[in-house]
Amino acid sequence: MQFKNFDSATFLRDHWQKKPLLIRNPWHSWRNPLSPDQLAGLACEDHVESRLITQSSDDWNAEHGPLPEARFEELGTVPWTLLVQAVDHHVPDVAALVEPFRFIPNWRIDDVMVSYASDGGGVGPHFDHYDVFLIQGLGQRRWQIGGMCDDQTALRSHEDLLLLAHFDVAEEWLLDPGDMLYIPPGIAHNGVAVGADCMTYSIGFRSPSRKELISNWCDDLLPNMSDDDRYGDPDLSIQTNPGEIAESAIDRLHAMLTEKLTDRGDFAKWFGQYSSTPRYPETDWRPQEPIDKDQLRRILVDDHPLLRNAASRFSFIRESEDGCLLFVDGECFPVAAAAAPLAKRLCAHSHIIVDPAEREADEVIDLLTALYNGGSLSFNWD
Ligand code: SIN
Ligand code: CO
Repeated sequence: MQFKNFDSATFLRDHWQKKPLLIRNPWHSWRNPLSPDQLAGLACEDHVESRLITQSSDDWNAEHGPLPEARFEELGTVPWTLLVQAVDHHVPDVAALVEPFRFIPNWRIDDVMVSYASDGGGVGPHFDHYDVFLIQGLGQRRWQIGGMCDDQTALRSHEDLLLLAHFDVAEEWLLDPGDMLYIPPGIAHNGVAVGADCMTYSIGFRSPSRKELISNWCDDLLPNMSDDDRYGDPDLSIQTNPGEIAESAIDRLHAMLTEKLTDRGDFAKWFGQYSSTPRYPETDWRPQEPIDKDQLRRILVDDHPLLRNAASRFSFIRESEDGCLLFVDGECFPVAAAAAPLAKRLCAHSHIIVDPAEREADEVIDLLTALYNGGSLSFNWD
């Protein structure tokens, strides 16, 4: 599905990571995909990350889920907001909201957070480190935006929320159902519900910090390093001053580091796995009954479309000789040329049909059996 009256190439050129954009209802026919009650139900479940923000005079209080059902009855008239993370993992109709945003690479897309607010509710003026599309689902919300913030920007002291100490409103809009606001990283923003039953869907994006990359890449390298791999200087010669760390020693030490850290092939493989690792690993999506290759072949013959698990992350890296490395849920699958077109289609579409010619290839059957048994793929049985 593509948006109407929205050109993704123009958006990327003029707005992505640059400046906010208000997009008035670009959906062909907007339908709120989740009811407030369903959202509250998710917030009561274990393994679903949620927060309840309540406001009193000028202060915000945050509670972490899972929330007891009775909590919603006690809220009274104070403005409040319920925020539930990764709702797309649990609700296929919410996962479908992401499809028109696939002009942005899969690995950059994070998940869909859904909020529900009572009249006047909001999370307060803040900024995020990532790009976000805020889709108004139900009711109305007034969005205000301010200037660019960074780690030096003054915050109000608050344990759980990164609230801005000062917020100067530069622009504001009232959003109706289906309207969207794109906000680049760092831009101050504040959304306040106008009237009851305000639901907002936030499509968030990921952009690893350099600190996160270096730290996680090193964590991956360290277990495979040997204590025998050490500095050596069999060519040591007499120095004029024993206190000097010689240039040649620094060169050799520095090379010990960079040789390991700069291997592009190893890094690419690690990054594919790292960026496809599930955010909530405690949720097990594997089928109760694993299937074998013959069973899988029979299902394919019946032409049931394959469905990507909405919680699964699929990406690939091109390899020479028409193969590719497919990354799914933290695993790397080296894919030979015979199965590579299918692996790439799986990355591009959430539903796919396997061609009769493809079903003949063992590489295809092996890959699909592994993905099905791993819980990353299922079948549409309709
Ligand atoms: C909200 O939905 O209330 C908050 C979303 C955001 O500002 O990031
Ligand atoms: Co925000």
